[in-house]
Amino acid sequence: MNLAKFERYPLTFGPTPIEHLPRMTEALGGKVQIYAKRDDCNSGLAMGGNKLRKMEYLVPDIIASNADTLVSIGGVQSNHTRMVAAVAAKLGLKCRLVQESWVPHEDAVYDRVGNILLTRLMGADSRVVEDGFDIGIRQSWEDAIREVEEEGGKPYPIPAGASVHKLGGLGYVGFAEEVRAQEAELGFKFDYVVVCVVTGSTQAGMIVGFAADDRADKVIGIDGSGTPEQTWAQVRDIVTNTAELVELGREVRDDEIVINPDYAYPAYGVPSKETSDAIRFAAQTEAMITDPVYEGKSMQGMMDLVKKGFFPDGSKVLYAHLGGAPALNGYSYTYRNG
Ligand SMILES: Cc1ncc(COP(=O)(O)O)c(C=O)c1O
Repeated sequence: MNLAKFERYPLTFGPTPIEHLPRMTEALGGKVQIYAKRDDCNSGLAMGGNKLRKMEYLVPDIIASNADTLVSIGGVQSNHTRMVAAVAAKLGLKCRLVQESWVPHEDAVYDRVGNILLTRLMGADSRVVEDGFDIGIRQSWEDAIREVEEEGGKPYPIPAGASVHKLGGLGYVGFAEEVRAQEAELGFKFDYVVVCVVTGSTQAGMIVGFAADDRADKVIGIDGSGTPEQTWAQVRDIVTNTAELVELGREVRDDEIVINPDYAYPAYGVPSKETSDAIRFAAQTEAMITDPVYEGKSMQGMMDLVKKGFFPDGSKVLYAHLGGAPALNGYSYTYRNG
């Protein structure tokens, strides 16, 4: 495998810490050791998160393209568009964002706080549209690209989550390499990685990275999309493309792509009672803040899988914390009493 041949523009602090979560481990029965890899604390850029690992491999291509405007898309409370706005600010580029109405919401200020507030602060031209949730390529994004061109700009298109971008899977191949190096220092290996999956390139990159030492099927994706077939198919495509790019040297089989669909209910961006309980649990055992859209669902999934005995006794489970806490501000009514 050869990731090093790709240029990487540093946007993060470096390798993210892995920490043991003893109170959570104990509260879940003590038979499975829980650790977290803190990609939520990976950068000083606008609160960081998983998208920056991906964007580190896009930036050299952005610079080479001579584009003057990054054009991307996500929901109103998108972490991804916050990160695209951050990268644009950092590189001195303009940023045009389509923010779709992916989530039915209760808070009056949902479209003013959290991610979208930070996005606007960083100077992005952020426009909210009515379209609902879909991880695919969207007309509104294509229209935005064309509008930038018509206005005389040079757009650089970044799809939702940077996922179906040709280089979108590379960052999380790097995550696997980083974990392997950290395992060598720790003196043990993780038996499982738990990760939230929606647009797909985070888990897809991990799958390719961990396929190199034949443990891709130990990366347990917890679906947050509520459209798991579409997410699975997108992960499949990104895995195939990324494996070829990094010269993995073999095909990744379908049975190495593991996505659990059981925790995304009732819908993308809407926390179930169990998701909210998981958010409170992580906050109250380890002061680890997760959000109702992504990490709260993967936290719920990990907790439930531990309780069900999915992980054999003695397993070491690595929870990939991908960020997303700013979105909590859009859910102040749900969590008004904690
Ligand atoms: C905080 C957070 N967790 C998980 C995900 C899911 O990652 P991906 O879209 O690469 O599947 C995202 C982005 O969609 C995210 O912002």
